[in-house]
Amino acid sequence: MKIKLSIIGAGAVGTSCAKWAMVKNLAQEVVLIDIVPDLAKGKALDLAQSSPLFGFSGKIWGTEDFSGIENSQIVIITAGKPRTPGMSREDLLHINKEIVKSCAEVIKRFASESIVIVVSNPLDAMVYVAYKVTGFPKNRVIGMAGTLDSARYRYFIAEALGVSPKDVCALVMGVHGDFMLPLTRLANVAGIPISELLSQEEIENIVRRTKYGGGEIVKYLKTGSAFITPGLATIEMVESILKDEKRVLTCSVYLEGEYGIQGVFLGVPVILGKNGIEKILEIKLTSEELEVLRKGAKHCEELIKMTHL
Ligand code: NAI
Ligand code: 2OP
Repeated sequence: MKIKLSIIGAGAVGTSCAKWAMVKNLAQEVVLIDIVPDLAKGKALDLAQSSPLFGFSGKIWGTEDFSGIENSQIVIITAGKPRTPGMSREDLLHINKEIVKSCAEVIKRFASESIVIVVSNPLDAMVYVAYKVTGFPKNRVIGMAGTLDSARYRYFIAEALGVSPKDVCALVMGVHGDFMLPLTRLANVAGIPISELLSQEEIENIVRRTKYGGGEIVKYLKTGSAFITPGLATIEMVESILKDEKRVLTCSVYLEGEYGIQGVFLGVPVILGKNGIEKILEIKLTSEELEVLRKGAKHCEELIKMTHL
């Protein structure tokens, strides 16, 4: 079967997603869509010209015609404003809600069997918007943040220890925002708990830097936010779905009682395969960890109310 991947929003993150999908040769067809006339065409042509250099043998093209997403197995939504210095992800709620809503409407119309991955911020509220507007089952509407936040966390642990990030296993749960929950208890390096290798103070610094990892980059970039790792983190999810790898990744998913939380999207570990979310893993958390998770859920509930959906 021909694999078609569509990416709505040909900005920094959308282009990064397309690039990584091509590098990994994940699809025979990659489509970039943007409302700005010719932008997606230009980005796609630039990307297409790189294919001889890393051996992508599929086709990539861009358009502002949203029917271009027809027959896609996966549609990624990266359309929307990014943060600039001083802005929180939540400041983007009203403007991005309308954008994500319009994207979800076209996905429902042109790619009703697709799996949707939402990247636009504030992430956990935007994936709720896509879920409500498409009406797709919850296994087919997924938010990307946990793979990015966990990658940041793993990198900072590796950096502090001077070891390969490949050997660091750690996850960040919860909301993609200030209440995110980098789990210190379970973080390990090749099976060795980080508490054996780092002081409490060092661990706390890593946790802080992970939580504000996105903001730190915004401060440097000034005109936008991170895009290289966000693109790859999204494609990590795409790869697991397309290859039915059953990876265990943290994704923002609709909770219906798991962790005692109901009716919001929140980052939790899941098994990702050809059907999208195949299983939500409910791990045992301490009461302190649960409290942070529930604070995040409360925050998401408030944002959801503001979307009036
Ligand atoms: P960007 O400004 O570079 O690109 C956004 C693109 O969306 C622009 O090209 C714009 O023309 C397009 N767009 C706007 N409305 C549209 C519509 N209705 N249909 C199609 N395209 C439309 O922004 P960037 O850096 O690519 O970020 C995109 C979003 O992803 C932001 O909301 C950002 O906060 C979020 N983000 C989320 C992350 C996460 O971990 N979930 C990580 C990084 C970014
Ligand atoms: C990030 O964490 C902006 O949410 C985006 O980099």
